[in-house]
Amino acid sequence: MSCAVAVAGEVAPAQEADARAAALLQQMTQDEKVQLVHGHGWNSSPIGAIGFVKGVARLGIPDINYLDSTAGPHIKDKNATPLPSPIGIAASWNPALAFDVGRHIAIELRTLGFNAGLGGGINLTREPRNGRTFEYLGEDPLLAGKMLAARLKGNNTLPVLGVAKHFALNDQETNRFTANAIVDERVLREYYLLPFEIAVKEGQPTSVMCSYNAVNGEKSCENRHLVTDILKGEWAFPGYVQSDWALAVSDTERSANAGIDEEQPGSQNDDKPDAYGLATFFNQKLGRAVAAGRVPQSRLDDMVVRKLRALYRAGLMDAPQPAIGSIDVAAGDSMALRAAQESIVLLKNDNRGAPVLPLDRSRLKSIAVIGGHADVAVISGGGSGQVPPRGADPVTCRTPGANALTIPLCANWYASSPLAAIRAKLPAGKVTFSSGEDRQAAVDSAAGADVAIIFATQFVSEQMDLKTLALPSDVTDKANQAYDQVALIEAVAAKAKRVVVVLENGTAVTMPWAPKANAIVTAWYPGIKGGEAIADILFGDVNPSGRLPLSFPNDESELAQPTATRAGPMPMPGAKQPAKLIPYPHDEGLLVGYRRYDALKRKPLFAFGHGLSYTRFTYSGLKIAPQASGDVEVSFTLANTGSRAGAEVAQIYAALPTAVGEPKRLIGWEKVTLAPGERRRVSTTVSAARFGIWQGGWSVPAGSARVMVGGSSEGQGALSGKLDLTARRLPGGA
Ligand code: GLC
Repeated sequence: MSCAVAVAGEVAPAQEADARAAALLQQMTQDEKVQLVHGHGWNSSPIGAIGFVKGVARLGIPDINYLDSTAGPHIKDKNATPLPSPIGIAASWNPALAFDVGRHIAIELRTLGFNAGLGGGINLTREPRNGRTFEYLGEDPLLAGKMLAARLKGNNTLPVLGVAKHFALNDQETNRFTANAIVDERVLREYYLLPFEIAVKEGQPTSVMCSYNAVNGEKSCENRHLVTDILKGEWAFPGYVQSDWALAVSDTERSANAGIDEEQPGSQNDDKPDAYGLATFFNQKLGRAVAAGRVPQSRLDDMVVRKLRALYRAGLMDAPQPAIGSIDVAAGDSMALRAAQESIVLLKNDNRGAPVLPLDRSRLKSIAVIGGHADVAVISGGGSGQVPPRGADPVTCRTPGANALTIPLCANWYASSPLAAIRAKLPAGKVTFSSGEDRQAAVDSAAGADVAIIFATQFVSEQMDLKTLALPSDVTDKANQAYDQVALIEAVAAKAKRVVVVLENGTAVTMPWAPKANAIVTAWYPGIKGGEAIADILFGDVNPSGRLPLSFPNDESELAQPTATRAGPMPMPGAKQPAKLIPYPHDEGLLVGYRRYDALKRKPLFAFGHGLSYTRFTYSGLKIAPQASGDVEVSFTLANTGSRAGAEVAQIYAALPTAVGEPKRLIGWEKVTLAPGERRRVSTTVSAARFGIWQGGWSVPAGSARVMVGGSSEGQGALSGKLDLTARRLPGGA
């Protein structure tokens, strides 16, 4: 019987990878199969990776060295580039930038010998006090999903494994190992899972990381409905599901039979606790469970095929790991600067009706720069999502130490000085610096200057949620703050001619002092070139084009859960029974962020999608053209009516028929750069899926909808038009 031999290149790469994986599986011993589906244990990597899966040399299966890479490779003393945090990349609303960031981080990972990055966090901002908000991509599922998909596409241009994490509803750090997110199916599908669905289908991560918490009573890494029914079943995810690191898996059979394909960090001996007294489950315990038939052999084989398929598709079976090289620091700095410039959001710019920014070099004689360690550094977040600074810490921590969960309390700082960058912009000017610790000195310096620029920092970290969104003080953040930042802003604003506040923040900030500031900028955690990027924006060498990826509330009472959650008991290492789950009902449903403000007819301090420019844009000529496919073509004319070039993020929202009972939703956007005076006809096709609702399956409801196009979710000056939706079932879903 002749069989067609697929000539390499004739068969699509995915089918070729599948065929090669299936063939290789047949050559593996049982021990080799088990070895491939668990980590080798903490600190087992020969090159300092956070996770290490031993390969099978005789079959050409490489070791896997995982490294955290949220904003760049999380490894010390290798000159890895600390890029702006993901919340800042999301604020750029530019998928092309996210692609470049993903590619750049993959280049640095591969240069340093790592073939797997753990950077793709997309848990939505239900709770802005979540300490990991800076690692994620904001409150909207479409923005988050599309931006991670773009980052993954950039990553996938190199032979480096990429992840989407933490699947799912890991939306706070308090009780992260035992939190039980209780959510109804429609909200689960239309909101919390949607960014993962978009990222998985459009970005092709090789793995998805299941999270520590539980969803509707089952830990995510033992949750068959999430992992097998939805991710692998309905979405046909071809990759593998790896656990988060320790305490995510608590039972071999439950986890394996739910569809988990890899345990991290794993160990070389399940039969005794690991170095931290923690149990592991996918080495000898898995082998015995398969031998006893408690986990089918087919399940183990599927774990292995998924891993092999991922390695083939990523090119890792055919592209040997190059020798470890050195980071191209100049390339890293250039990527970091470009990303920071595009992520900064101008929130307010008003000096009694006239803009105070950009600063006018030709007229400015003196500037008082105050606070935020702006003389030496910019701040960054804590935990696995940060990148260690290059060289020594530019800022000494006030009270070094760790919290009860051993997470360091000290912020990370990068030696990029906003003060130096501002001085370079105004070489003939008098630019003073006051640390902020001596409030009177700061006030005096401001009173004597043409403009005061106050830097305010907010440290957030993994394994810690904020108690408040107010700027931290020497009381609320003793490790990183020497004074009351709010009091300083108030005191300076009372005496300064004009005051600009620059935030370096990981999440939303409440600002009772906002009316007293003439201008407010958020730079997020701007990375190793943050100081320069901030100065570029302040002096107008770059026109700000960032837009908020999450709502900034007036105060915490506006949040879905207005009171910060209380920490419960940690699941103690070696505990005999799984830790007791702590219920977190997500009763607010879809009413999170701008959806909540829209439904409650309230206004946030600064809205999702908000951001100012140094020029002005107008919208006209909205046309909404439904297609036979169910897609909708939306077109409009955008004009730059100001005197300088700039980029606008034209956002498209839909209000579904009122009978559906849902708040408005983002259904698309276009970031458009226009020269002064330029007008452009912009057209974009919105997929039918963007009008979908979940009722046991996806469908578009019939009825009269509205489509709005404008510069933020608040809709000032937005165009609006009617769209008659025709009922239709959509692909996907049960
Ligand atoms: C951490 C985080 C996860 C990270 C992993 C390895 O606990 O939850 O995001 O990738 O462990 O550091």
